[in-house]
Amino acid sequence: MTRSALKTVVIAGLAGAFLTGCASINPFAKPDPRWADFKTWTKVTEGTEPTGDPSKLLGVVHKGENGYRDVYVNDIAKEALLGPAPNDFPVGSVIVKHQFDDKAAWEAGKGDVTVSIKSADDGTRNADNWIWAAGMNGKAGASQFCSGCHTAALSLYNSDYVFTTADFLKKHSAQ
Ligand code: HEC
Repeated sequence: MTRSALKTVVIAGLAGAFLTGCASINPFAKPDPRWADFKTWTKVTEGTEPTGDPSKLLGVVHKGENGYRDVYVNDIAKEALLGPAPNDFPVGSVIVKHQFDDKAAWEAGKGDVTVSIKSADDGTRNADNWIWAAGMNGKAGASQFCSGCHTAALSLYNSDYVFTTADFLKKHSAQ
């Protein structure tokens, strides 16, 4: 490769990195339409005291056990989530966790969101079928961090990467 061709490649690479970097921190980014209107969905934690850590898995993730949460489900995922185990989700299922530092933040509605999306279905319960996002303006994509822990939902609740199922909610409110 000539020196100038190499230079072009390097500059193109840098410009690409710059643009991608920019996209992920772009203050003008809009919420992804797949979850932008999540507050109009079914709030499955309605009527529960949505705090604590029933699965004993959280550690410091998701604001930890003293954090509060509201979990919303879109129409595509609703039946699977609110039905009995096994809970298996159709493609297009989106679940949003609106999480809060404490009760005061919860009451004020001041939290942030994490999102699970079933983006594919290879016929098995597989992490590759799910993508994840953190933040209202976050970008959804594969995440071993998110899916690694959510794998526990399979054995704990017989559920496809989603903890908050009807059984989970029942168990939690009985505690
Ligand atoms: C250390 C384990 C752990 C990690 C890592 C983790 N989660 Fe969770 N997540 C949980 C548990 C446990 C629940 C259910 C209890 C709760 O809501 O606090 C949950 C709940 C959720 C919910 C509500 C639906 C459900 O499955 O119950 C969403 C959405 C979610 N997480 C998204 C994410 C995203 C996105 C990431 C990565 C940025 C992530 N989680 C990382 C443990 C984890």
